[in-house]
Amino acid sequence: MAQLNINGRSHQVDVEPDTPLLWAIREQVGLTGTKYGCGVAQCGACTVHMDGAAVRSCVTPVSAAEGKKITTIEGLASGNVLHKVQKAWVDHEVPQCGYCQTGMIMAVAALLKDKPQPTDADIDATITNICRCGTFQQVREAIHAAAKA
Ligand code: FES
Ligand code: FES
Repeated sequence: MAQLNINGRSHQVDVEPDTPLLWAIREQVGLTGTKYGCGVAQCGACTVHMDGAAVRSCVTPVSAAEGKKITTIEGLASGNVLHKVQKAWVDHEVPQCGYCQTGMIMAVAALLKDKPQPTDADIDATITNICRCGTFQQVREAIHAAAKA
């Protein structure tokens, strides 16, 4: 058993300490916005925040998440008010199939917290998430729009 704080609520999860956080979030807590893509920290579809930093939950053991504040895409908005990254994503019609997008948004939200005005080089270095639909140009435009919001 482990105790996880996810989106401001405490959850008991019945998993082994080395179970990837992704599976605790999806299968034990039932928050399915966080996606499984590669399972080996390459694609970023599983990105969540741990104490405000972007982490790839497919390679983060539950034991490393205990005592930390986990935020998933379901917890990013403040009630009915979208996070500025979500708003920019809507305005710029970024998603295509959508599968990679929750991970993208979580990665970008963490980037803008660290670097409120990221350069293209900052974006290239930090947002390494993979999008099979090729939304990279829209992602870049939406990041710059969110930075100005
Ligand atoms: S599923 Fe975690 S990085 Fe791809
Ligand atoms: S929008 Fe389809 S994989 Fe990114």
